[in-house]
Parts: sequence; structure tokens; C-alpha cells
Amino acid sequence: MSLAQRSDAVHVRAPGKINVYLGVGARHDDGYHALATVFQAVSLYEDVFAHPAADFSVTVRGAADPASVPTDDRNLALRAAKLLAEETGVSDGVALELRKGVPVAGGMGGGSADAAAALVACDALWGTDLGTTRLHALAARLGADVPFALHGGTAVGTGRGDRLTPALARGRFDWVLVTSEQGLSTPDVYGRLDRMREGSALADDEPLSLDVPVGVLQALRAGDAQALAPVMMNDLEAAAVAERPELDLVLADGVRAGALTGIVSGSGPTLAFLCAGPEAARTVQEELRVTGREALHVHGPVAGARIIG
Ligand code: C5P
Repeated sequence: MSLAQRSDAVHVRAPGKINVYLGVGARHDDGYHALATVFQAVSLYEDVFAHPAADFSVTVRGAADPASVPTDDRNLALRAAKLLAEETGVSDGVALELRKGVPVAGGMGGGSADAAAALVACDALWGTDLGTTRLHALAARLGADVPFALHGGTAVGTGRGDRLTPALARGRFDWVLVTSEQGLSTPDVYGRLDRMREGSALADDEPLSLDVPVGVLQALRAGDAQALAPVMMNDLEAAAVAERPELDLVLADGVRAGALTGIVSGSGPTLAFLCAGPEAARTVQEELRVTGREALHVHGPVAGARIIG
């Protein structure tokens, strides 16, 4: 019997994300870059089951390459559980079971979703009842994208991406995601961007202007995919494509298949194609599958980390 089937487990589901807009500014001394980003949570989920245990452990299911997800202290969900225990003085452990639906190292915040889900699950399991504000503070200590995985919906992220302001988004946006078997390392992609900028005039133009364009927020507020497509942007895209040149070809294929536009999701290599609606998305998905690509149809915005059942 798996941990999840035992009735005393707490089950939390947390979404993956797309950065609809990702402006990257200067690199700070702590290695993090200033961001102006818009996240949207999409219907691709991590399911985390937390079961009472004396010690801390984590098992992983559903990853294309299980070896790519560490189960030692590098695992962000395990770190989240330990951080919560430390902060609250809980002496119990937890056995975490992660069922991965978000691509590993795909630029969609799968590891961050695991951490957010683990926080919510352990908070319920241990009865620590921290409340949203304190959970968000712990989330921000675990990683820049973790607060958004708690929050969900559509939100503007500033600072390292962890300072969130909810953004209004009407209706639903249809996305086709093209995943890659081989993930990309987020620090590598940021590092590549730094090197690309060193050699360009941009380096002299500090501080980089870091505002989310009003057109992005208006298009989201209006639920208007046609208006959103031309204003989507990702400063990490050129760096991700430099690491993985074939992404450029797939971006062109998606647009040829009928997507309004395509963008690298976060640090990649997942590509996100915005479509005019569900029908258009199904067509794009089928056309991309014919070319041998793994294409998934998802929608956003969806809720953040939530207890199920
Ligand atoms: O916070 P998280 O662990 O998700 O970040 C992974 C890496 O991505 C960081 O170590 C850093 O190299 C890069 N990063 C960054 N600036 C940000 C967010 C992430 O440089 N705002």
C-alpha cells in the first residue's frame, strides 16, 4: 500500500506556473536577479501526500527520470517540512510522497510547487495552523517561486519574484505546453544571460527598466488572449535558446500550427503557446504531436496549493 492510500495522509495539490511576462534586471550580490514578472498558475499539478512519521523522508513518483529528483536534503519539499518543524518547534517527522505532474527542471516551478504543497500539508498534519502570512514568509525563504505556488491565480512578482501582488485575470487562458525530456538548470540559464549581457550595451544601461507593461495587465484583466499575445516577453528566452538551440524551431512550429504566440516558460526548456481558445489549443496540440513533440493542453489561472478531500 502506498503512503497516499493510507487514510491519515494529508493530500495537497499545487500548480505549475507560466511566466506570462518575465523582465530580468540587475544581479545582486546574493546571486539573485531583480525581477518584474507576471505568473499564471496552470492546470498541471504536483500532488503531495504527507503522512505522520517519526523521521523525515521523501519518495517521488511520476517523474520521467526519477534520478533527476533528489530525495536527500536538496529536495525542496523535504526542506520545507523541516523548516516548518524548526520554526514551530514540532518534534514529529513526516513521510512525504510526491506525485509529479509538472516537468522536472522545466521552468514551470515544479519543485517550488512541491515545497508550497509540503508547507500546507505539514501545517495541517501537525496542526500548527500558521496562517497565510507566516506560510508565505517561510515560502520566500525556500525559493523565489514558492510564494506564488502557494498563492496561485495570476500575480505580479517583484523583488526576486517572491513579492506578490494579485493581478485580475478574467476568464480562462488556453495554453499548449511542449515539454522536453532533458531539463535545464535555472542557475545555468541566469548565468548565460549574465554573460550575454556582459558583452552587450545593456550592461551600461543599468538600472534596467523593470516594470510590467500596462498592456500585459490590461490584456489579463480583459481576458483577451489576442491582446496578451503580442505583449508577452521573457528576458530569459534568448539565454534558454542559447543553451538549447532547437527550442527556436519548436517555437516557430507552434505558431505555424495556429498558436497566437509561443514563449519559453521561465528558465525553460518548457515552451508555452498561448491559443485563442480550447478548440484552437486542441488543434495546436494535435499538430505539434504529429511532429513528434510531447504537447499538453492546460488552462489558467487555477488556485494555489490546496488541501484535497
Ligand atoms: O529561488 P530558486 O531556488 O528558485 O532560484 C534558483 C536559482 O535561480 C537561483 O539560485 C539563481 O541562480 C536564479 N535566480 C535568480 N534570480 C531570481 C530567481 C532565481 O538569479 N530572481
